[in-house]
Order: sequence, then C-alpha cells, then structure tokens
Amino acid sequence: MAAVLTRDIVKKFNEVAAVDGISLRVPDGEFMVLLGPSGCGKTTFLRIICGLEQQTSGDLLIGGNIVNEIPPRARGVAMMFQSYGLYPHYTVRNNIAFPLRTQRVPREEIAKKVEWASQLLGIDHLLDRRPRQLSGGERQRVALARALVREPTALLLDEPLSNLDAKLRTSARQEIRNFQQRVGLTTIYVTHDQVEAMGMGDRIAVIDHGRVRQVGTPPEIYENPADLFVATFVGAPPMNIVSRNGGGYLGFRPENFLPRDMIEDGGATEFSFRVDRSEYLGSERIVYGVMEGFDSKQPITAKLPPAHVAEDSIRPGEWHPFAVKNSALRHFDTSGNRTTSH
Ligand SMILES: Nc1ncnc2c1ncn2[C@@H]1O[C@H](COP(=O)(O)OP(=O)(O)O)[C@@H](O)[C@H]1O
Ligand SMILES: [Mg+2]
Repeated sequence: MAAVLTRDIVKKFNEVAAVDGISLRVPDGEFMVLLGPSGCGKTTFLRIICGLEQQTSGDLLIGGNIVNEIPPRARGVAMMFQSYGLYPHYTVRNNIAFPLRTQRVPREEIAKKVEWASQLLGIDHLLDRRPRQLSGGERQRVALARALVREPTALLLDEPLSNLDAKLRTSARQEIRNFQQRVGLTTIYVTHDQVEAMGMGDRIAVIDHGRVRQVGTPPEIYENPADLFVATFVGAPPMNIVSRNGGGYLGFRPENFLPRDMIEDGGATEFSFRVDRSEYLGSERIVYGVMEGFDSKQPITAKLPPAHVAEDSIRPGEWHPFAVKNSALRHFDTSGNRTTSH
C-alpha cells in the first residue's frame, strides 16, 4: 500500500484546463472521495494518477517516488471504470485473470490470485459464468476483483456505483468500504453523489472547475463549508443562503431552521418565515417558503420532525416565527468565502 500525492497537477485540453492545479495528499490506507459535479475534471485527474493521461504540468508521487514518467502498469495503481469494461465472451475467471495473463504471470500463481480476489469479494461461486449471466452488483464485484488481482498499492474507482439501482447502491457502498478496510488499501473514489461521499469517505475533496475547493472529513465539510459552492453542493436540501443588506451572506442548514418555540431561549436569531409548501416524507417534513427581509435565489427550506409539528400549526400562506441557533449560522463574504466574523 502506498500514499498518493499530487503537486499542482494541471491538465489542459486545447488550452482549456480540465484539471487546474490540484494538490492532494492521500495518506497510506485512506479512503479519499473526490466529489464534484459532472465535467469538473474528476475522471481526468484519476486517469493522470494511473498514467492513462499525461499531465500538462505538476508532479505525481506514489509511495514517495515521483512517477511522472513511469508507464501505467509499473505504477502499481489499479483503476476501475464507470462502465466496468468486462469482456462479454470471457468467463468471470478469465476476466479477473486478464491483467495477470497480459503480464505473463505463471498459471498456478494466476489461479491462486483469482481465488484470493474472488473470495475477498464473495464471487467465487460465479467464476464459470459470463458477464451477461450476472446481476449489476455481481458485475461490479467482478470488475473490482479484476482491479485487485494485481494487488495494487492504490485503487482508483470512477463512479463505480452509478450503474446500480438505489437499493443496491446502499449495500454496495458498505461492501466497498468493508473490503477496503480489510485490505487497508489506499483508495481514491470519484463520485458526483454527495450522499455517497458523506457516507463513504474518510475525507472528501470537493472539486469544482478542476480545482479543490475544500478537503476535510465529512463532518468538517458539512458543518464548516469553506465557501458557498461547498455549502450548497453538500447536503439535501442544500444549505439556505440569504444575502444581507450591506453585503455578505448568511447560511444555515434546513434542519437548524425551526419554529421559534422549538429552540430554547438565548443565543438564537429569529426570522419571520412564510410557508408556501410542505412535503411529508415520513421521517421528516420539508417546508418551503420565504424569509421576510432577505433575498434568496432559492426557496428557503426547513426540515422538521414530522411528529413534533402538527400539520395545521404551519399553515401555508401564513407568516410564522422561526429561528436559528447562532452557533448554527454560517457567514460568507461577497466573494462567497466563509468568514468567522459576523
Ligand atoms: N480527451 C479530452 N479531450 C478534450 N476535452 C476533454 C477530454 N477529456 C475530458 N475533457 C474535458 O475535460 C473536462 C473534465 O472532464 P472529466 O474529467 O471527464 O470530468 P468529470 O469526470 O468530473 O465529469 C470536461 O469539460 C471534458 O469535456
Ligand atoms: Mg467522470
């Protein structure tokens, strides 16, 4: 296993920077999630790390060594692609064995490694099937086994769950984390799904337009977003952002925006809130509305415990006293960066 370090990596396609100076340190054994919208440069960055793409500038270090000029295979990094890329006419066994065959690994060793990887992922009973005879989740595990069979020092996963349905995705998230922890494998996991990122990452790097906006643990990213992009990209519904007279922005999470009487006295700021619409979602009620005296591009949302609030106590069209604990207020300057002062 090895740490992965990038220093100011830039990748330009026709003068346009897809990756615009990423410096990232992924310690040995860490599960790092790269989170960002489609087109922000995530795949390009992974391809640079595994050597399928050459950076325009910047250094890449694996296990402390600069590997800028080292060909992909010799880097010891495995990448699993979004589409899995399994060979349809090969059996599962031969799909998993493929990377070893191309390296001319002896037959008995191949058999041992295929057994190890397929047991690790719980697919040893599927070795004689072909990809079309597998479910989506099984295919994903075969692709993972194939990525692992060369015992890489680091694993790169590019949106590996995007082909699975919502239910499978939840269990696959746990499976991936479980085996990653068991093996202690340095992993860089790319997704545009903030729930996946929050649930899986030891740390998350939030990326926008080829740049890292913030690196932190899930609670750090959620509680103390560095700027408005991070604040509104992570969390659903997103953090409420309102602009204040005199410049700057105020941010607060929907779950911290509550009817006044639900917050104990002292250390809270009151707002008048007109409820426009409310959605009952079982475990919570999402309320959409407008805040008196503040501008916002989005409707303001409150996330309320459904049992606590009687339905007729938050009647649509009426103004209600709401409040946010001061400790839950976040402040941003006019350029969108978080400030600690008020
Ligand atoms: N081979 C390429 N040639 C030109 N532009 C590319 C190439 N690969 C990616 N891009 C561009 O680089 C940007 C980042 O793409 P990508 O890394 O695939 O983003 P993501 O994986 O975050 O969706 C996009 O604007 C994309 O169109
Ligand atoms: Mg991509």
